[in-house]
Amino acid sequence: MPGFEATLARDAQTVENALTDLIKNKTCPPRLQEAMLHAVSGPAKRLRPFLLMETARLFSVADAMSLPAALSLECAHCYSLVHDDLPCMDDDSLRRGRPALHVAYDEATAILAGDALLTLAFEILSGAKTIQPAIKLMLIGELGAAASTIVSGQMLDLAAEGRFETSRMPQRLDEAQIFDLQSRKTGALICYAARAGALLGGADAEKISRLTRYGEALGLLYQLADDLLDATGSSEKAGKAVAKDAKAGKATFVALLGVQAARTMLEKLAGQARAAVEHFDKAENLRALPAYLAARVSE
Ligand code: IPE
Ligand code: IPE
Ligand code: MG
Ligand code: MG
Ligand code: MG
Repeated sequence: MPGFEATLARDAQTVENALTDLIKNKTCPPRLQEAMLHAVSGPAKRLRPFLLMETARLFSVADAMSLPAALSLECAHCYSLVHDDLPCMDDDSLRRGRPALHVAYDEATAILAGDALLTLAFEILSGAKTIQPAIKLMLIGELGAAASTIVSGQMLDLAAEGRFETSRMPQRLDEAQIFDLQSRKTGALICYAARAGALLGGADAEKISRLTRYGEALGLLYQLADDLLDATGSSEKAGKAVAKDAKAGKATFVALLGVQAARTMLEKLAGQARAAVEHFDKAENLRALPAYLAARVSE
C-alpha cells in the first residue's frame, strides 16, 4: 500500500486529470472553457478531494464511487478561490504560482468561470451514476449548505476588514467570532469533505459524528496554517502573495494572538483532529494529515 504522501500525490493527479477531461468535454465558449481549465489546474494540494476519498476508503468505498463527489467538491473549491482573488475581494494577482484568473483573462471571465465551476459541481454530483440516489441527495444538500456557508464566511471576512464601515477601520473580533468566521469561510467545505466520505460509506451516526469533529478541527487548522503562512512564509513556497492579511486588516488568530500562540493553537487542533480518528481502522492517512499540514508552516 502506498504511503501518505504517495497517496496524496496520486489522488491529486487523478483529480486534476479527471477534472481537465470533464471540462474539455463541455460545450461552451472556448474562452470560458480555457478559463475554467486554468482555474482547476496548477500545483494545488487537492486536500479536499483527498480527504473525501480517504474518508470513503475507511468504509471500503471504491474510488470509482467517491471520485465524482471529489471532483464536484474540488470544482466548488476552485470557484471559491477565483472569486476570492477578484479585485473587489482580496485583490490577489498570484494563485498557485500563476496569474490569478482575472489577471490571466479579465474580471468578467473570472466571475463567469467561477459561476460555471460552482454550478458544474452540482451537475457532476447529480449526474454521478455510481452513487445511490438517496446518498446523492444528501450530498447535494450538504454541498449546497457548505457552499452557502462559504459565502457567509467571506462576507464576515470582508466586513472584519472594515470595508462596510464609514470609518473603514478594521473590526476587532474576539476569539469566538474568528472561530465562527473561519469555520464558515474554510471549515465548512473541509468538514463536508469528511462527512461526504462517511455518507458515501454508509457510516453510522457515531462514526459520522467523529468524522465531523475531525473535519471541523482540520478546517480550522487549515485556515490557521494558511494565515501563519501569510504572516511568516514566502510567496515562492505559498504560490501566492504573502504578508497581506495584516495590511488588509483581516481577522485572524495570528492578528489576535500573535505567531507563537497561533502555532500552539495549530498543534492543539492537529491533536484534536488526530484524536477524532484514533479508533478507526485504515485511518493511517487521516491520522497523518493534521501533522503534515501543521508541518507546512514550520518548514
Ligand atoms: C486556499 O486553499 C484557500 C484556503 C482555504 C486556505 P488551498 O490552500 O487548499 O489551495 P490549493 O487548492 O491547494 O491551491
Ligand atoms: C480563503 O481564505 C477562503 C476561501 C473561501 C477561498 P484566504 O483568502 O485566506 O485564502 P488565500 O490566502 O487567498 O488562498
Ligand atoms: Mg479571502
Ligand atoms: Mg484570499
Ligand atoms: Mg490566506
